[in-house]
Amino acid sequence: MKFFVDTANVDEIRELADMGMLDGVTTNPSLINKAGHDFIETITEICKVVDGPVSAEVASTDYETMMKEGEKLAQIASNVCVKVPLTPAGLKVGKQLVDNGQDINVTLCFSAAQALLAAKIGATYISPFVGRLDDIGQEGMSLVSDIVDIYERYDHIHTQVLAASVRGPQHVVQAALAGSHVVTVPPKVLHQMFNHPLTKSGLDQFVADWKATGQSIL
Ligand code: E4P
Repeated sequence: MKFFVDTANVDEIRELADMGMLDGVTTNPSLINKAGHDFIETITEICKVVDGPVSAEVASTDYETMMKEGEKLAQIASNVCVKVPLTPAGLKVGKQLVDNGQDINVTLCFSAAQALLAAKIGATYISPFVGRLDDIGQEGMSLVSDIVDIYERYDHIHTQVLAASVRGPQHVVQAALAGSHVVTVPPKVLHQMFNHPLTKSGLDQFVADWKATGQSIL
């Protein structure tokens, strides 16, 4: 399963890329707002830090403006993946971008029916929002496994499932068990994935015992 990081903070992206953890990046207008820097400059910089796909989302909701925004974003770098919302106009834009050879990520997916529409236009990625479904009392991860199951039944579907709106390490594990192709993870969650109390206590013990030997490897 590929790991994308869900942030527009370039420092956090650089740190995780240096650790060899990153296959790509997802951003959205809220994350751009949180990062507090110019959108185009931020995406340009992220695309230089990461080799893999960098999702940059259109900001408008009407077809004409979204189309122009999508084309402009696509020009930033060859690894830009244009993110479009799962609306009729968003998918119309997405279809045209796909026909032009552009990778796209269809965002704000909350049902398997919507995921079928994204596959129909040949989307590169579909992003089911797990945490936001959990937030309203639904089982977000069953949407991921439903979409994986459906897509696997059809050889002509090449759309990859990108589990999004991830709230903790358990979501990452469940996405992997469901067969999700990609998971996009907030930096905090990726750091949490390292943690286990037995790893910490085990290492403390090894460090103490090694010190007691009085030896040095170097
Ligand atoms: C996905 O691409 C979105 O940026 C993201 O996962 C949304 O997550 P949230 O529900 O934490 O805002």
